Amino acid sequence: MDIRRMQDFEFKDKKVLLRVDFNVPLTKEGKVYNNKRILASLPTINFLLEQNASIVIVSHLGRPKGVVVEELRMDSVAKELSMLLGKNVRKLNTAIGDEVDEIKKNLQQGDIILMENIRFYPGEKENNPEFAKKLAQGFDAYVNDSFSVNHRAHASLVGVQDYLPSFAGISLLREIESLSIEHFTGRKIALVGGAKLSTKIPIIENLVKKMDYILIGGAMIFTFLKALGYYTGKSLVEDSQLLVAKELLNTRKIVLATDVVVADNPEAEDVDIVLSDSIPDNQMGLDIGPGTLELFKRYMDQADTIIWNGPMGYYENEKFLYGTLDIIRYLATTKAKVIVGGGDSSGFVNKFGLERKFYHVSTGGGASLQLLSGEPLPAIEALKKNAELFAVIPPIISHH
Ligand code: 3PG
Repeated sequence: MDIRRMQDFEFKDKKVLLRVDFNVPLTKEGKVYNNKRILASLPTINFLLEQNASIVIVSHLGRPKGVVVEELRMDSVAKELSMLLGKNVRKLNTAIGDEVDEIKKNLQQGDIILMENIRFYPGEKENNPEFAKKLAQGFDAYVNDSFSVNHRAHASLVGVQDYLPSFAGISLLREIESLSIEHFTGRKIALVGGAKLSTKIPIIENLVKKMDYILIGGAMIFTFLKALGYYTGKSLVEDSQLLVAKELLNTRKIVLATDVVVADNPEAEDVDIVLSDSIPDNQMGLDIGPGTLELFKRYMDQADTIIWNGPMGYYENEKFLYGTLDIIRYLATTKAKVIVGGGDSSGFVNKFGLERKFYHVSTGGGASLQLLSGEPLPAIEALKKNAELFAVIPPIISHH
């Protein structure tokens, strides 16, 4: 059985535990400065409210390591959510205990409450069954709408599902559907950037099996070039990955940069453009060149579906940002269906306010990489298991 959607359950008068990922960036003053993940949860919250459910939301924020960290309390997130919903969201200072149990008991239709940062409790990361049971206690159902943290096997993501019938939220379903390579249609091109080939091996290995071509950008270009026997000067090369780079090149699906922007060091002011087989000894490659951009666009012009992950160059220095920017400009205007996955790439799209120009921009960093690598995500696997478990067994814990 596959995972169940919210439409598969009668939520009227039900008490729902909703897991979202409100791990959002905060300013020094503690205010939310990028609310994309909060916005992503609104369709699910509104769906549940329209169904006359009551909702208790749980999320983590940062990495507090099982102890209370004042700066990581969820108060400013609750304010932002209240503002976006146009409805008061009550914020609790705890997530388990007598106060919470009392509140759960007295929940009324349409109530919406945000619990305290769940990572203040060591049981969360340990996926402690006792902790998960306390968290689940008093609810009728669990909804997971927290794609970007679904690669973690934590109590509020996995453990709670042992105790409640569980359903996928709207944003989670959209992420799974958009990032599942099996669903891609037509001619499929992947554009993968980033500094280290070692961190991108699982995703590239999966993509070569399922896509037509993989265009490679970022410093990992140079490990491929060295594997072909080229001189790479002072460029970043992972010698430990040369063999796997050769194997990937043998698939004939890897398309490499034909020219690169080079400099003496990453912070240099003086830059030059050279062909990929002519990198001088005292220079390092830091961005893809104009010839490569043209080549990549020729491939992408033929594509029906494009997936983009990772920057094309050392964008931290704006001298080497051009390749990434030009790619974003192209992707924002192409007719192909473009899916953006990974923290850096999604961050760029958000920074320039271009989300609407893309078919899908993932909220996930690690989670989207894991999905694109074809590896299971524990919280999604738990939803599948739950669909089987609760197809025959009624909820174990109920307040009725
Ligand atoms: C993220 O921001 O990628 C998710 O919220 C997961 O956070 P984590 O890496 O601290 O588990």
